Amino acid sequence: MAVSTSRRTKFVLDEDRIPRAWYNIAADLPTPPPPPLHPGTHQPIGPDDLAPLFPMALILQEVSSEREIEIPEPVRDAYALYRPSPLHRAHRLEQALDTPAHIYYKYEGVSPAGSHKPNTAIAQAFYNKQEGTRRIATETGAGQWGSALAFAGALFGIEVKVYQVRASYDQKPYRRMLMETYGAEVVASPSLTTNYGRSVLSRDPDSPGSLGIAISEAVEDAATRDDTKYSLGSVLNHVLLHQTVIGLETIEQMELAGEEPDVLIGCAGGGSNFAGFSFPWIGRMLRGEARYRVIAAEPEAAPSLTRGIYAYDFGDTGKMAPIVKMHTLGSDFIPEPIHAGGLRYHGMSPLVSLLKDQGVIEATSVHQRASFEAGVAFARAEGILPAPEPTHAIKVAIDEALAAKEAGEPRVILFNLCGHGHFDLSAYERHLSGALEDYEYPEAKVQAALAGLPQI
Ligand SMILES: Cc1ncc(COP(=O)(O)O)c(C=O)c1O
Repeated sequence: MAVSTSRRTKFVLDEDRIPRAWYNIAADLPTPPPPPLHPGTHQPIGPDDLAPLFPMALILQEVSSEREIEIPEPVRDAYALYRPSPLHRAHRLEQALDTPAHIYYKYEGVSPAGSHKPNTAIAQAFYNKQEGTRRIATETGAGQWGSALAFAGALFGIEVKVYQVRASYDQKPYRRMLMETYGAEVVASPSLTTNYGRSVLSRDPDSPGSLGIAISEAVEDAATRDDTKYSLGSVLNHVLLHQTVIGLETIEQMELAGEEPDVLIGCAGGGSNFAGFSFPWIGRMLRGEARYRVIAAEPEAAPSLTRGIYAYDFGDTGKMAPIVKMHTLGSDFIPEPIHAGGLRYHGMSPLVSLLKDQGVIEATSVHQRASFEAGVAFARAEGILPAPEPTHAIKVAIDEALAAKEAGEPRVILFNLCGHGHFDLSAYERHLSGALEDYEYPEAKVQAALAGLPQI
């Protein structure tokens, strides 16, 4: 706990400090992660099984155990549109909480699409372009990932088709308009354009959709067209890898601030911003160089890390995507339509799940009203309106700052502010008017979904 007395607010790096390589945590894990399995045969899958869906460069990154993977120059060049992103010291939030803690946040909302998602969208679009892909299909929960891929598709000249979860399609029309402005085609999921979407709608015409359903639709789209690949905005190893630019920059910026964190916090839906922010720090822990508390913050309505089980499960509801070992609530589980759409996922990335299982990281769950309260307190102190997803991390950061006050200790708290909430104002309006509801943990629905786990 080295405590700085400086009053500086922003720690910024020059463009030439954009990382030159991504950090691959697989190199530092004590045991290799359990292999992904084929959804039909339940046997470990190889690169050829994934080739219809992803370009080979990404498949090789998915299984790589090299510690550093070079970032191609065209990707760094596109990163320069918004990277390095700033690190802020939250002086005003500290004052409002009257805490001796020092609170820092890495701000990823400065990207053109408004979140961390372009860090991998740009890389995925680049490798697809390099291998001749003409069109990419994807899902989006909050609309943030769809916006990011639509933006990246525009940069590299690739058509993008987005299956946007129905709940978020209805809650966030401006996200759809942003995607369309970048040139993407957007449909609400479940949709009538895929076999899987039609089958869901025939059972439940009013389905609010879910990330699991939208993933199945996008996978089906890519698997049934020669000119199309699939792209995922979270969960997979290569996505987490690309996001490590967040943590790599943050390490340098904390050196500028002259402090070492005691606690690192990120929200976790599929795990990509949490991992990108924390893995470079966790690498130090795994190599025995440092010790931090690292906390994943998830919604009470979809608490895969805190209440799910660690087992092999399908990544999508239609059971078309590979089976992976992860913390899961069951692939049939459809979370309630909370406003943090990006956190409405039944599973968690296998790498984050493994670290939780091994006790390297902690996890905690937060109700949506408490997270919006934290988001409003943060906006009133720091000025930035957070996306609903990172308000979960803010709530945990505030609790940690209050615990530091209680203990009378100047702990250093660092969290990832992974996106802004400018397209989420209707959710803030509902919160401010008292109309937002909390959803209790749906134990019975989860038990029913867990009964459908594949027998491995
Ligand atoms: C702003 C924001 N934060 C967090 C998430 C959750 O995804 P992940 O856990 O992969 O960071 C999303 C997903 O859409 C998002 O848009």
